[in-house]
Amino acid sequence: MKFKNMTVLITGGARGMGKAFAKEFASEGANVALCDVNKEQLEDTAAELRDTYKVKVFEGCVDVSNERQVNEFVESVESQTESIDILINNAAIHPLTPVEKISNEEWDKVLGINLKGYFLTVKAVLPGMRKKQYGRIINISSEAGKNGGTICALHYAASKGGVLAFTRNLAKQVGEEGITVNAIAPGRIATDMAGSVSDDENQIYVEKSAVKSLGKPADIANAVAFLASKRSNFVTGETININGGTVMD
Ligand SMILES: NC(=O)c1ccc[n+]([C@@H]2O[C@H](COP(=O)([O-])OP(=O)(O)OC[C@H]3O[C@@H](n4cnc5c(N)ncnc54)[C@H](O)[C@@H]3O)[C@@H](O)[C@H]2O)c1
Repeated sequence: MKFKNMTVLITGGARGMGKAFAKEFASEGANVALCDVNKEQLEDTAAELRDTYKVKVFEGCVDVSNERQVNEFVESVESQTESIDILINNAAIHPLTPVEKISNEEWDKVLGINLKGYFLTVKAVLPGMRKKQYGRIINISSEAGKNGGTICALHYAASKGGVLAFTRNLAKQVGEEGITVNAIAPGRIATDMAGSVSDDENQIYVEKSAVKSLGKPADIANAVAFLASKRSNFVTGETININGGTVMD
């Protein structure tokens, strides 16, 4: 029980990778706080976790780009547990729009969720982590933040590149306080988000990879569990590529 008596906050935890992370932590004894905008899937996931793992599960229908909603959820979780030990910034959207057709509103929405949302959750949990002089922050980026990603997703790629710089800067600011900050840059992982691009594009990805397959949410959850554990004490400001060999740097 690696995470017994700890609390992990996972954004976008209702489905996909966020749900896989939640299962990983709950199976290792952590209390799990999930937020998402998809109320129905969120409630189903929370119920499944409670039934299967018998851990405390807190769920909040929260838009991570809304500061008030984020702060209220964090305050509510902190009032029911000792503190939030681990934050997984994972909620993101990936609209496909050619550059000239991206409206200012769409640009702001993508950056608001995929980048500002990460900032808002960090601001909300940091005081608790500082008080405890311990914390693990893991930011889910994408290989798009390194190689530009799928065509027609300029805003998404910009947000994911931003997450990498955000991770390094934050790591420098909080390292002395026992808080580590790392990122993961997944390649194509079989979730609903990957389903938003065509089968042909996914097939091209498979052919380009060294392992000749898409990844699974559990592939990312394994690395998240390492970065969230005490075993990763000396790892901070790092980005782990998990992509079956499409980007190697
Ligand atoms: N699937 C891939 O191929 C892939 C590749 C690289 C990186 N990623 C990244 O991995 C993470 C998880 O992706 P996924 O494939 O599980 O996606 P997904 O679309 O299956 O899940 C994302 C979750 O975030 C939630 N969400 C969206 N907007 C939100 C908001 N404003 N507030 C709160 N929750 C919100 C959604 O409702 C959904 O439950 C994302 O950061 C994504 O950018 C995914």
